[in-house]
Amino acid sequence: MKHDAAARAAELRARIAHHDRQYYELDRPEISDADYDALLTELRALEREHPQLITPDSPTQRVGGAPSGRFPKVRHAVPMLSLANGFTPEDVGGFIDRVRRFLKLDAGEPIELTAEPKIDGLSLSLRYERGVLARGATRGDGTEGEDVTANVRRVADIRERMRGHGPPEVCEVRGEVYMTRSAFLELNEEQVAAGRTVFANPRNSAAGSLRQLDPEVTASRPLRFLAYAWGEMSEMPADTQWGMMQWLERRGFPTNPLSRLCRSLDELLAFHHEIELQRATLDYDIDGVVYKVNRLDWQRRLGFVGRDPRWALAHKFPAQKATTVVNAIELQVGRTGALTPVAKLAPVNVGGVVVSNATLHNEDYIRELDVRIGDTVTVQRAGDVIPQVLGVLLERRPPHARPFKFPKTCPCPLATPVVRDVTAAGKESAVSRCSGELACPHQRIEHLRHFVSRRAFDIEGLGEKQINLFYEQGWIKEPADIFTLARRNEEIRLEQHEGFGEVSVRNLFAAVEARRTISLERFIFALGIRHVGETTARSLARGYGTYESFREACRQLAGGDAEARQELDAMDQIGETVIESLTSYFSEPHNTGMVDHLAREVRILAAERPATASPIAGKTIVFTGRLEQMTRDEAKALAERLGAAVSGSVSKKTDLVVAGPEAGSKLTKANDLGVKVLDESQFLELLKESR
Ligand code: IVH
Repeated sequence: MKHDAAARAAELRARIAHHDRQYYELDRPEISDADYDALLTELRALEREHPQLITPDSPTQRVGGAPSGRFPKVRHAVPMLSLANGFTPEDVGGFIDRVRRFLKLDAGEPIELTAEPKIDGLSLSLRYERGVLARGATRGDGTEGEDVTANVRRVADIRERMRGHGPPEVCEVRGEVYMTRSAFLELNEEQVAAGRTVFANPRNSAAGSLRQLDPEVTASRPLRFLAYAWGEMSEMPADTQWGMMQWLERRGFPTNPLSRLCRSLDELLAFHHEIELQRATLDYDIDGVVYKVNRLDWQRRLGFVGRDPRWALAHKFPAQKATTVVNAIELQVGRTGALTPVAKLAPVNVGGVVVSNATLHNEDYIRELDVRIGDTVTVQRAGDVIPQVLGVLLERRPPHARPFKFPKTCPCPLATPVVRDVTAAGKESAVSRCSGELACPHQRIEHLRHFVSRRAFDIEGLGEKQINLFYEQGWIKEPADIFTLARRNEEIRLEQHEGFGEVSVRNLFAAVEARRTISLERFIFALGIRHVGETTARSLARGYGTYESFREACRQLAGGDAEARQELDAMDQIGETVIESLTSYFSEPHNTGMVDHLAREVRILAAERPATASPIAGKTIVFTGRLEQMTRDEAKALAERLGAAVSGSVSKKTDLVVAGPEAGSKLTKANDLGVKVLDESQFLELLKESR
């Protein structure tokens, strides 16, 4: 027994050390915090029982840091955003046109934009209260990040106190933490000499250095910081982006000296070109240039699409390329059954990242490029997207190179036939799909994985490995089963299976319980309906408000109800594709059964309306006629930001109609139904306080 305990303690320590390295040094965690905690808890219990097993270097003997040995989570007061990408001058032109249209600006009205290099590091939010650094947090998923305050205090570019008198009550400075290339190379040399981890690129090494358990280690690493944005501000010291940057600079935060204020598309493109030429000689990695509309009142009006501001664009540089050999081609079955051929490559470094898989997209793509197993190919990696195979170097084709035969059946045990999609126009699309739907185990597993993923139900401790196992054992066949697992554990006895223990099972069940209450938008997103991503799910949740009305509408939709269709069509961001997809999803008894089983197991919260108390929060509004002070898009975005649902047709459910000149039948109908009607000025007056 003693011997077993010693062996188990050693194993636990080795596993913890492995996960520490993945998490702290490589910034590539393989298990959830809960699973990690379970390992530590088990080790602690063992050591309590057998104190002679405690070693001075046991992870249980560490001092400082968070109790779990990881960073506590913090919620950002203002979410940390991402940026929409553009690649060509046309993309940039399109961006400016959209801004102009949205704001209803005359063709002659100049739009000023700031332009600055896009640094490839990690973003950080620094909260100053009365001018003193109170907290530093990583971006995380944009809503919730990690508290790295102790480490941030050890970064030389980051001040403990803001410079100057009369600092604002609250000021969150946001920017990028990065490492220069020269510092990165030097650090790697030291790491090699000391027999420690070598970092793949400056970004990884900056991330690894910031997320150290011991702030002393962070202090010893050459981290830099550049400010480019802000979060919560108790007051605004400037009314332009450029003015804000100058203010941050005066307050003692480094900003990028290469930034420029531009007045036209040509100036933006010239700047992009200049920076691209300088790229190789800069001592830090950049992957493009960021443009931001200069006027902050315009930024406010422009608002967001999902997580991307309408007022900014990342103009990326062309992707990085490399050549390597295709060792094999495998098929991946996606959540919706799409078969994606993936080239298994001899590992190659593409701009600092080792690539060993690249997508071949579909059957036609393989045929067009004539990619064969054994070929030497060019691969490309752009930003964080999946690397892809670009082409074949025919002169390097070996005699044994062998063409890939796209199968006629799914690689799953059912071997269901593979069919090509047909587009709305009746043409065959390039996508091959397993026709097995949820009968195909691959699709089911992908569905389950999507269901528990971070942006859906976010169940800690239910990763790919566990889902595969639970599915194979027949314990979980559909999402509802996850929530009955604990009840069925009398039979299953999970704790007796390899890889599980009392503690991890308890943690798993607790994690499942914690998600039994869920927001409507996450619930809808988690269903994994085709074309219903996060943004669409949010629109549906806001549009319908409650699960019951969403479910009822989908029932009507499946029954061919024209009014339900019209109501859906009127919702923000919903078009034909989504309507078709919802209709076919809810026409399938298999799917509706799954949804209804699940709904019985969980509590679905009504859609969240923005917290601001606005006079239109929770109301349904219809705009009709011509608007003169803003565009229809802007009016719609404004109403939604203030918590209203915007609809395209007037009904009994309409709370307010905003009618401009030339309003027609909708206005008549509103009057008939006795719905409140305002003109544009009255509407803006109503919102004066809350805008
Ligand atoms: S602005 C709208 N400016 O790029 C505010 N981001 O793709 C969003 N980044 O998470 C950020 N340089 O980590 C902004 N000059 C810059 C940037 C920059 C690098 C990063 C940042 C952000 C990501 C979005």
